[in-house]
Amino acid sequence: MDTTTFLLMIPLLLTVFCVFTISRSRNPRLPPGPYPFPVIGNLLQLGNKPHRSLAALSKRYGPLMLLKLGSRTTLVISSPDMAKEFFHKHDQSFSSRSVPEIVRLNNHNESSIVWLPAEYQWRRLRRITKECLFSGQSLDASEQLRRQKVHELVDHVRECCRNEKAVNIGAVAFTTTLNIISNLLFSSNFSQYDLTSSQEIHEVISGLLEVAGKPNLVDFFPILRPLDPQGLASQVHVYFDKLFAIFDNIIDQRLQRRAVSSSYDTDLSTQHDVLDLLLDINFKDDHELSINDMKSFFMDLLVAGSDTVSITLEWAMTELIRNPKKLETARIELMKHMHNNDKTLNEHNIPQLPYLQAIIKETLRLHPPGPFLVPHQATHDVEVEGFIVPKDAQILCNVWAIGRDPKVWSNANVFMPERFLEAKTDYRGQDFELIPFGAGRRSCPGLNLARRELHTILVSLIYNFDWKLEGNMRAQDLDMEEKFGLSLPRNVPLMAIPIDHDRL
Ligand code: HEM
Repeated sequence: MDTTTFLLMIPLLLTVFCVFTISRSRNPRLPPGPYPFPVIGNLLQLGNKPHRSLAALSKRYGPLMLLKLGSRTTLVISSPDMAKEFFHKHDQSFSSRSVPEIVRLNNHNESSIVWLPAEYQWRRLRRITKECLFSGQSLDASEQLRRQKVHELVDHVRECCRNEKAVNIGAVAFTTTLNIISNLLFSSNFSQYDLTSSQEIHEVISGLLEVAGKPNLVDFFPILRPLDPQGLASQVHVYFDKLFAIFDNIIDQRLQRRAVSSSYDTDLSTQHDVLDLLLDINFKDDHELSINDMKSFFMDLLVAGSDTVSITLEWAMTELIRNPKKLETARIELMKHMHNNDKTLNEHNIPQLPYLQAIIKETLRLHPPGPFLVPHQATHDVEVEGFIVPKDAQILCNVWAIGRDPKVWSNANVFMPERFLEAKTDYRGQDFELIPFGAGRRSCPGLNLARRELHTILVSLIYNFDWKLEGNMRAQDLDMEEKFGLSLPRNVPLMAIPIDHDRL
């Protein structure tokens, strides 16, 4: 062997040595998993669709699998029973978050409802979301606002229909959901359907979602933090600063208005939007909820509540366009409950529409917008099913894999809303085979708002219009690949041309 060959072989020998050493020294009480390479661990096995790669790996290693992602110990859950162990039996021990690097910028993790540990300040924010936004009473009170926003959507689609113009379903759904939340928070629209008008806030939020969805090397190798090798931290800084400046402006204007308004009082029942309610709390509780806490809260709700809903709607429309008979069944069911000149669904009618509800469940089963939930973290060593889950390990629950597991679902890859007509399975966190909103104390607080939005917006699109694909593309030819990021949208946006029912 010449010297050059020997030198070239050194990295290979080192790798083999390390793998051997790690495999020998692996604690047998740790869950099984693929052997990690030195330094990078199992990163190369993630590929560009980690939900699919990890689903495949779990077939080999089982429903609880241990990986090393760079230096981060990660546990992957891939079965309903295991999910129940974590988020029901040991819920408290796994209710912390594993915090990504970009969330640490501007210390957002210290005031964010999504990233705070499940302690006092987090409980307080959860209570506020419930009282101000998501209780049945608050949601009933804001129904009119949602109807108005859905009307605006229908008007826009009607305009496209007249001009035979294709609609980007995900984009218009995003505008609708963003405006619903921005109106709940500030009584103002953050986006417009008309692309010629200014879309600054819309662009900042979508930019933030996009950057936050990119895999960040610093999460796997914290030692690289000062280098910010992909420039993600600097991009996020820019978005944070822009968004916080917008919030500052809105808050200043509101404070000025409140200062001059003689009718202003601190009786919560007379207030309208969440900003008013939070300013009241700030005023009453001697600034226990600071202006900075409020800005983090607004950002979290806008980010968590806009693209999750719009992505689900885009997938629901995709599946219905591919399955015209199922679309027709949904319409026939709707005819019985809608009156002639209704454009939108009354939210109280949702329980009377079992097929529509089944469509939403089936869409969330096949296309959960958060394929791994939001990463949890073990607060201490925990024994689960005979294995040790080490303190500080990151926990990913692969709800995408659970939704497609043939051991759990018959014809698992087929869109079949009918499966939910007889079954009582629901997505509220009791049935662990369907947990797109998570389960346990960290589950999604926006579920009830999302449920109302998903059903009413979908109805407005399928009841008022028929749809054909752009360029006479056949529905069977639609690309069904997803793009992995912070959420799981379609890889190629769904572009469809609305057709008036009367012209069919
Ligand atoms: C289809 C719609 C939605 C889906 C599928 C969804 C899903 C989820 C999931 C999977 C989590 C994490 C659960 C866990 O880690 O165990 C979550 C958390 C959260 N969601 Fe949603 N969500 C949706 C809509 C919304 C909406 C409309 C809002 C509010 C406007 C919202 C606000 C939040 C917040 C604040 C959290 C963090 C909760 C915490 O960490 O305590 N979500 N959501």
